[in-house]
Amino acid sequence: MAYTSGFGFPSDVLFDMERASRVLSNKWFFVGTRGDVPAPRDFLTFEVLGDEFMLLHGSDGVIRCFVNRCAHQSARVLKQETGTCAASLVCPNHQWSYHLNSGALRAAPMMGRTFMESDVAERSRLTEISLHEVAGMLFACLDHDADPTDMNEVGSIIGPYTDPFALEAGGYKLAHHHREVVPANWLMVMINNRECCHCRQNHRGLLDLFDPSSFNGATSAAYDTMMADGIGRWEALGRAWQEQAFTANDSVRVARYPLAESWKSITFDGEPASHKLIGGWDDYDASTLSMWFNPNAWVHFTSDHIATNWVLPIDGDSCTLYSSWIVHEDAVEGVDYDVGHLTEVWRVTNAEDVELCNSMTRGAQSSYYAPGPFAPDEQFCTQFCDWYMRHSD
Ligand code: FES
Ligand SMILES: [Fe+2]
Repeated sequence: MAYTSGFGFPSDVLFDMERASRVLSNKWFFVGTRGDVPAPRDFLTFEVLGDEFMLLHGSDGVIRCFVNRCAHQSARVLKQETGTCAASLVCPNHQWSYHLNSGALRAAPMMGRTFMESDVAERSRLTEISLHEVAGMLFACLDHDADPTDMNEVGSIIGPYTDPFALEAGGYKLAHHHREVVPANWLMVMINNRECCHCRQNHRGLLDLFDPSSFNGATSAAYDTMMADGIGRWEALGRAWQEQAFTANDSVRVARYPLAESWKSITFDGEPASHKLIGGWDDYDASTLSMWFNPNAWVHFTSDHIATNWVLPIDGDSCTLYSSWIVHEDAVEGVDYDVGHLTEVWRVTNAEDVELCNSMTRGAQSSYYAPGPFAPDEQFCTQFCDWYMRHSD
């Protein structure tokens, strides 16, 4: 079945992992932030279509992305999801070790005294893939010669919004990271993320925080008043707020929208998520600066934390959903924030979405499946599907 703009994906697109691989080789995809790996030797591992990678903060301050496989007998070098490694990367299998900043082989015990001078040793290194940092956010591309032009454009669009946070300058820490293998097609997770028409029925808790009008671009008198109050406040403080909806660059949407009045952060009770403010804010602001990146992420900056969510395919009917909560580096767990309270909104909301995405995936696997049309308020689903088709052919 052929793809029709304005409708969902045909099943042969949804489950085509070669097409997914082409997109992830042509375009940059989100893999976390500097807040996930804030200090030298910090790492975060992730998986794409059966290949495993690591983000590694080098001793020179540069964050790189290497394939998480040893050049000796292909064992996984880093086994944990996140953490801090030794002064060099040591494979747990036979203790070959690698330089943090280059991935070059440093030592290979038991290979004999002359091995390190050999051509084989010279070639035996960790494989590096392209990584690009934009406003402290990290984007990878499976193509070794990825073109950074696209990401430079994204940087110029989001810069006015993200500059006050200075995530790229450090000063943050990873309060919590959570990942789970989701029994759903990754494109279904993205389509679900790109509309809020399901929110009223499925995210009762989330509706205490914000009006779904803010997401869908729909208007109501109550929301118009909230937004007008917010705009007045943000303009007085010199904060960018105008929505950029996949127009200047088709990979990013950025918007600032109001939370419920007197809400201090993205928490179910409206109380602060952390007691250390970030982003240059002098006081809590009932707003979120939100960004949606094609093909795989959505992030929310508030005045006390940054929450990131990103998805990558494992195979046609499963993917990994990664979530991180980033706070001020001086925030102390148990004093300034409680992990359960900080993470609750997205843990609960993501679980509600996973159930829907699993249901949609099962449906698309049915012999009766045919793509249905998107509603006018699902315009970002159409944008996503058109984008995916355009960059995967
Ligand atoms: S597989 Fe890594 S040292 Fe042998
Ligand atoms: Fe949802």
